Amino acid sequence: MRAVVVERHGGPEVLEVRDRAAPHAGPGQLVVDVAVAGVNFMDIYQRQGGASYAGDLPYVPGAEGAGTVAAAGPGVTGVAGGDRVAWSGVPGSYAEQVVVPADRAVRLPDGVELQVAAAVMLQGMTAHYLANGTYPVNEGDPVVVHAAAGGVGLLLTQVVKMRGGVVIATTSTADKAELARQAGADHVADYDHFATAVREVTDGAGAAVVYDGVGRATFDDSLAALRRRGYMVLYGAASGPVPPLDPRRLASGGSLFLTRPTLGDYIAGRDELLRRADDLFTWIRQGRLTVRIGGTYPLDEAARAHEDLAARRTTGKLLLLPR
Ligand SMILES: NC(=O)c1ccc[n+]([C@@H]2O[C@H](COP(=O)([O-])OP(=O)(O)OC[C@H]3O[C@@H](n4cnc5c(N)ncnc54)[C@H](OP(=O)(O)O)[C@@H]3O)[C@@H](O)[C@H]2O)c1
Repeated sequence: MRAVVVERHGGPEVLEVRDRAAPHAGPGQLVVDVAVAGVNFMDIYQRQGGASYAGDLPYVPGAEGAGTVAAAGPGVTGVAGGDRVAWSGVPGSYAEQVVVPADRAVRLPDGVELQVAAAVMLQGMTAHYLANGTYPVNEGDPVVVHAAAGGVGLLLTQVVKMRGGVVIATTSTADKAELARQAGADHVADYDHFATAVREVTDGAGAAVVYDGVGRATFDDSLAALRRRGYMVLYGAASGPVPPLDPRRLASGGSLFLTRPTLGDYIAGRDELLRRADDLFTWIRQGRLTVRIGGTYPLDEAARAHEDLAARRTTGKLLLLPR
C-alpha cells in the first residue's frame, strides 16, 4: 500500500510517497481502507519537529480520516468489515490503509459523507470541546474567534453562535472575512483592529473569552481584550509559540484564566468521543453545521497541501484523497 513517509524533519519536501507493507489488524484493532485523510496544522508542527513534536522517525503523518473497515482483529465487537468509520488521534492516516484502535473508531450514520466526516473529526471535535467544555459559552457572551475562516475557525464560529454568543472574528483578507460572516460572525476585524472592535462591541468591558489558535502574533492583544475574570483559551500556535509568561500578568489583567487545552484530553473516554461525534453528525444532518471543504489533494500532493496551509492560502478543511 502507498503512504506518505517522513524520514527526516523539515519542510514540505520531506513528505514523500512510498510503498509500505500492508498492515494487519491485531487484537482490538481495525485495518481501514482510507478514503479521506484530514490535513491539520498539527501535521505541520510534527513534520517540522521541535520540542513538543519530535517523535520517532520515520513515520507516516496524519491523525484523522474516514474510510471503510477492511478487517477487524480478534476481540473487536460492534464494528465489522464494510462499515464506514472515522477517527482522529490515530497516527499514520496519510496512507491507503491505517490501523485504527476499535475504541477510537466512530461508525458513521447514514447521511454523513466520508469527506464531511473526515473534515470534522479533529477540527469539529475541537470546536465542540472549546465552546462547550473549555469555556462553555453563555447566551450574549462576547467571544473572540481568531482565524475564523480556517478549519477550526469556521466550525467554532458556528458552534459559538448555536450557544448564543456574539462572535468578534479575525481574518487576514476580505474574502476570508466574508466567509466568517457567512458562518455567523457578528463582527469581523483584522488582527491589528480586533481589540478596538471588542472595546466598541462591549462598551469597553472586554470579551468573555478569546479562542486563540494563532498564538505568538495575537496572544498579548488577546489577553488585553478580555473582561475581568475572562478566559484566555490558547489552543494553537499557527504564528509560532507564545513565550513563557509571568502569572502576575493574569492578576493585573483582571484575575484572568489561562488554559492550553488539547483535543486528546476532551475525548479521552469513549463516551465523550461518541457524544461529541454524535452532536456534530446530528448538526450536520439537520443542516445546522456547514462544513466547508477548502481543498482536496491526491496523496502525492501532501506537500502542496502543507505549503498552502502554512502560507495562509486556505479556508475551511483540507483533505487528502489516498484512493
Ligand atoms: N488544541 C487543540 O486541540 C487543537 C486542535 C485542532 C487545531 N488546533 C490548532 O488550531 C489552529 C488552527 O488549526 P487549523 O488546522 O484549523 O488551521 P487553519 O485555521 O485552517 O489555518 C491556520 C490559519 O491561521 C491563520 N494564521 C494567522 N497567522 C498565521 C501565520 N503566521 N501562519 C499561518 N497561519 C496563520 C491563517 O488565517 P488568516 O489568514 O485569516 O489569518 C491561517 O489560515 C492551529 O494552531 C492548530 O494547531 C488545536
